[in-house]
Amino acid sequence: MDKPVFQSLSLRKSPRISDSEFVQLRDFIYDMTGIFIKEVRRYLLESRLGRRLRELGVDSYADYYARLTHPLTREAELTCLFENITTNETSFFRDQKQLEMFRSYPLNESIKELKTRGRKELNIWSAGCSSGEEPYTIAMILYETLKMSIMGWRIRVTAGDLSPAMIRKAREGVYGGYSFKTTPDEMRNKYFKPTASGYRVHPKVQKLCEFDLINLNDRPAIKRIPPSHIIFCRNVIIYFDDDMKKRVIQSFYDNLIPGGYLILGHSENIHALGTKFKTVRKIGGIYYQKPE
Ligand SMILES: C[S@@+](CC[C@H](N)C(=O)[O-])C[C@H]1O[C@@H](n2cnc3c(N)ncnc32)[C@H](O)[C@@H]1O
Repeated sequence: MDKPVFQSLSLRKSPRISDSEFVQLRDFIYDMTGIFIKEVRRYLLESRLGRRLRELGVDSYADYYARLTHPLTREAELTCLFENITTNETSFFRDQKQLEMFRSYPLNESIKELKTRGRKELNIWSAGCSSGEEPYTIAMILYETLKMSIMGWRIRVTAGDLSPAMIRKAREGVYGGYSFKTTPDEMRNKYFKPTASGYRVHPKVQKLCEFDLINLNDRPAIKRIPPSHIIFCRNVIIYFDDDMKKRVIQSFYDNLIPGGYLILGHSENIHALGTKFKTVRKIGGIYYQKPE
């Protein structure tokens, strides 16, 4: 009698990745995404992709690579690959000290400047937004800051990620407890509604955010993003090598309006990359400003 599918799947052993297969996949992933998998993280690639190989009944990483590059299977397999290789750790109000700094300086300065010029249009880009907690947090901070006057503003939070699964989850806007591990209760009670499937983000917060699949290694796609006043790219460039970091930071520079702001994760910096950004240090963290 045939074994049930789940049993045969779990019993099948994952193939080992050979040196040449590792290099082939590592370089392919780098070309597609800018994510560079160091030799010491080779086990991670094996453990994350092993399950997929078993699901497909594919016996070697060379055969898997063939699926990734074959015109008939490429698109679906790439989606799966991106979902498997990305680390999507995030939460609402992650790094509150840095967010307070964002509110006190980049956000307040931008609002002041735009009001003075009589142009109440603010564009913020959350690059590498994962499942949406970061852009929704930005939208909530905008409500907290502008209060009722937000009605007079045209605000757009453009949020992009490489992973289709993350973008789907972000658009859905329903979250479990883990997403709130860094969130003040007051904010959760104010901007979310408990439902049977989790906490649903308030439609007015959702309305400010536009989610899209945006690969930071895809320059033409980035060029289509409207000029930003502020860019968040937190906990994303740690996965890139220096060449890719340079390209991405240059894309941010090009996208920002003169005087615009860039905010990276607290453990990331661009000091060694030789950019034209001005570094500004404040309590709560660092931000980078494009010269006027
Ligand atoms: C650790 S999460 C950070 C999420 C959020 N920015 C935060 O700090 O909470 C990193 C995200 O970057 C995304 N990412 C990695 N490489 C990317 C690329 N080339 N283009 C767009 N997003 C990418 C991953 O899919 C992942 O969701």
